Amino acid sequence: MTLSLTETSENFGPCAMVIFGATGDLTKRKLIPALYSLSMDHRLPDKFSVLGYARSEMNDEEFRRKMRDATSEFSGAGLKNETAWEKFAQQLYFLPGNYQEPKDYLRLKEALAKLDRRNRIFYLAIPPDLYAPVIRQIAAAGLAGRGTENGRWTRIIIEKPFGSDLATAKALNREVHEVFDEEQVYRIDHYLGKETVQNILVFRFANSVFEPIWNRRYIDHVQITAAESMGVENRNGYYEKADMIRDMFQNHLLQLLCLTAMEPPVSFTADAVRDEKAKVLRAIRPISPAEGSPVAVRGQYASGTAGGKEVVGYREETGVDPKSMTETYAAVKLSIENWRWQGVPFYLRSGKRLAKRVTEVAIHFKKPPLLLFKACPVEQLSPNVLVLRIQPDEGISLTFEVKEPGPEVCVNSLSLDFSYQTAFGTAPPEAYETLLLDCMRGDSTLFTRQDWVELAWSLLTPLLESWQATRAENFPTYNAGSWGPEEADAFIERDGRRWRRP
Ligand code: BG6
Repeated sequence: MTLSLTETSENFGPCAMVIFGATGDLTKRKLIPALYSLSMDHRLPDKFSVLGYARSEMNDEEFRRKMRDATSEFSGAGLKNETAWEKFAQQLYFLPGNYQEPKDYLRLKEALAKLDRRNRIFYLAIPPDLYAPVIRQIAAAGLAGRGTENGRWTRIIIEKPFGSDLATAKALNREVHEVFDEEQVYRIDHYLGKETVQNILVFRFANSVFEPIWNRRYIDHVQITAAESMGVENRNGYYEKADMIRDMFQNHLLQLLCLTAMEPPVSFTADAVRDEKAKVLRAIRPISPAEGSPVAVRGQYASGTAGGKEVVGYREETGVDPKSMTETYAAVKLSIENWRWQGVPFYLRSGKRLAKRVTEVAIHFKKPPLLLFKACPVEQLSPNVLVLRIQPDEGISLTFEVKEPGPEVCVNSLSLDFSYQTAFGTAPPEAYETLLLDCMRGDSTLFTRQDWVELAWSLLTPLLESWQATRAENFPTYNAGSWGPEEADAFIERDGRRWRRP
């Protein structure tokens, strides 16, 4: 069974994947382990090669050795079987080259010709300031090719961040389209490859019980949380420029919001699904930070305790400016102005060094309208909450009120629970496996389209600008290992609601 939501098996022929940034973290932690896992499951094309490209001098054998060590360290399942690894490793090649040197791209062209794979994927696993220069060099070397030519295709996968605000995202889209058609472009957001994220659509549209109550008549509000217990680890250089809104909201959190809020698509084809997601972003009331009541709060972690250890604050992390004003926490309230969601706030929050690692979408239903049980006033009833647990402990739960056994009518909350691990006996596959395979199959449903990326930036850019302008004022911190700044609690409590503590 394929992992994809759509069925497109055309164009799934011999393929070479060029990974720019082949010595980087993404390649060793995610891409090679994912390709290896696909190979073990016999899901790669029969004729398949990876050509790693990076500045370091290395030969094929050294590259294979490094990738072997990385896969054994980072793949969830480990190497498992040396023979399978050896077979896979024979498909890995390495070419040292400069990202901006035309001569090196001619060598790349020769290397690709030698590999003789009909179709090509270029994967940009490089710093974002190199995206446009590399795309130009690919074109100059005559390696791009629009659409499908003579039965062969060329695709490009572009990692996040795609731009750093609306203007830069538009400029990058223009650069990309100078060389590639939109159908050739796969902007990756690894959240969309998560099994639990895809399941939001299946849960909503393959069950008839939820759709009638999935609207403002029954839903009070929605909380979308992506909490991490980790700090910025060794990515400080990147994170200092990125910040929380750019790193998590513009992509992962808005994607979760769109899947939760979108209308049923007319079919599960890439454009039908992506049309509906774009409509959600168009319906969100623009964020206007100057408005009276706050629409967002931010914060930065101070020292504290995480995972049972003392940890330093963000400003003490290596490579971080000791006066850094970069946000490591944000909470934003969004209103979707359409018939389904008018008046239902969507609260989104994400932070580093929070109390635990958990990503979830929690649908809070309205309270019952009337007091029936004297011993239990309606204010004390807990409203039903449907929680789509994205990770870890992937699953779904629904809380509801029940009568406790005994002579009095005492009401208590219980939950119905579904766990992926218990139901399927295995954890869901890695997101990158799904996404790499989908790209080879030509299925872009789970990739971000140009209009979506620009709509997401146009929603968040006013907030980024306002925060940039007021960074020196009122900058809340929170202790590592807590649930974020106190201001975030006050922010939601003003609306008479509380954050979940999952
Ligand atoms: C990445 C962000 O896109 O997602 C990281 O750049 C973040 O900062 C990561 O830690 C979270 O991914 P996941 O799959 O662990 O939730």
